[in-house]
Amino acid sequence: MGSKNEKMEAIVSLAKRRGFVYQGSEIYGGMAGMYDFGPYGVELLNNIKKAWWKENVQMREDYFGLDSAMFKDPRVWDASGHTSGFSDPLSECKKCNTRIRVDKELEAIGVTADEKMSDEQLNKLFDENKGKIKCSKCKSSDFTPVHAFNLLVKTNMGNFLGEDEQPVYLPGEACQGIYLNFKNIVDTTRAKIPFGIAQIGKAFRNEISPRNFLFRTREFEQADTQFFVRPNENKEAYEKIKQARWDWYVKMGIKEGNLRWKQHENLVFYASDAWDIEYNYPSYGFDEMEGVHDRTDYDLSQHSKFSGIDLSYRDPSTGDKYIPWILETSAGLGRMFLAFMSDAYEEQELENGEKRTVLKLSYDLAPVKYAIFPLLKNKPELVAKSREVYDLLKERFNCEWDDNGNIGKRYRRQDEIGTPYCVVVDFETLEDGTVTIRDRDTTKQKRIAISDL
Ligand code: GAP
Repeated sequence: MGSKNEKMEAIVSLAKRRGFVYQGSEIYGGMAGMYDFGPYGVELLNNIKKAWWKENVQMREDYFGLDSAMFKDPRVWDASGHTSGFSDPLSECKKCNTRIRVDKELEAIGVTADEKMSDEQLNKLFDENKGKIKCSKCKSSDFTPVHAFNLLVKTNMGNFLGEDEQPVYLPGEACQGIYLNFKNIVDTTRAKIPFGIAQIGKAFRNEISPRNFLFRTREFEQADTQFFVRPNENKEAYEKIKQARWDWYVKMGIKEGNLRWKQHENLVFYASDAWDIEYNYPSYGFDEMEGVHDRTDYDLSQHSKFSGIDLSYRDPSTGDKYIPWILETSAGLGRMFLAFMSDAYEEQELENGEKRTVLKLSYDLAPVKYAIFPLLKNKPELVAKSREVYDLLKERFNCEWDDNGNIGKRYRRQDEIGTPYCVVVDFETLEDGTVTIRDRDTTKQKRIAISDL
């Protein structure tokens, strides 16, 4: 496997072939920016969520979990700034009407469009450079002027969009539910500042050009933490949070050489600092996997103003009253999924000349932990014993039983989906209660007692 493009193609193909990820609405021709997670994909996705939740909620006395409703009062998105400012610059090919996201197209030819540019400034920059940009479909460079395209997805939930009715939106980001429940959590738990709230939730964005498999989709999940601190007591906590997020990826098996930090040059007006953890994705290289943002008091101030409810916090020991500042971590589950899969993917040539594809996922992330095989499928006593071992293990681990093809083929199938251990039940098992256990990464085998599995 030579180029990074080939690696991406191999991963997309494995994801489809082995039931990790399918194109959304595939039987209707597929829907852009939508993906469905298949049987192994949903296990991997759930394991990423479980590991993230354990790290950010269960192992932390100062973090509280939440699962807020997706539909929110439409005023939430006015307060957050999404109805007015959550947009990407759009232009259309005059020949074939293909839509392009102008900032990304400019970036691809080495030109940076500042997020704070006015429409006029952006159009000038685009005009100066559009000769170098080609429509991906018809290769024309003849584009319409740029205009801001709002990414919020509207629904008619609870209203029928009469003229005066404000649409109810799908969440443009998951974190708003955390801000809405800040007061509830303070009032109903022992949370005292500094403390955090963690949530995994869906987000929807009308992305102009969804691309790169799971990297840029129109529906995705975000794993978010919001850490509430006293005003101006943000710096030290911010550095600690950044370090913790980096360390988690390394602990979960990502190679450190495939991670890097990138500081935002164009900060949104309310942020005092923002960094991305970038992953070295196959085919397009380093790009954002998670954002760590220092958001000042913007979010709670805005929701206080728009809801009319005072969201300031009174310190129980000093009596001080203030609007807390917020430090945010926000990671897309799809981008994490793709990074974990890419990082674990290897094609190897074995000593006997055979090739194998292996997903070296960490044990916690592997979709299946143990695969149990009878040595021969036509020996009822081996089949019965291996079923017994499978029934025993499946109580505690996600396991698979397989009697199809020779043992080598069964190993290959499990290597491809990242199963750390394969267990073979043979004639010796019937005599002394031991089985062969084979390690995915070393391919070494040893005999152990069933009771030691
Ligand atoms: N609440 C902050 C927030 O939403 P963001 O940088 O827009 O910040 C955070 O998004 C993370 O969500 C990103 O780092 C990325 O992992 C993920 N994300 C954003 N847009 C995405 C998209 N269209 N498809 C997949 N993941 C996306």
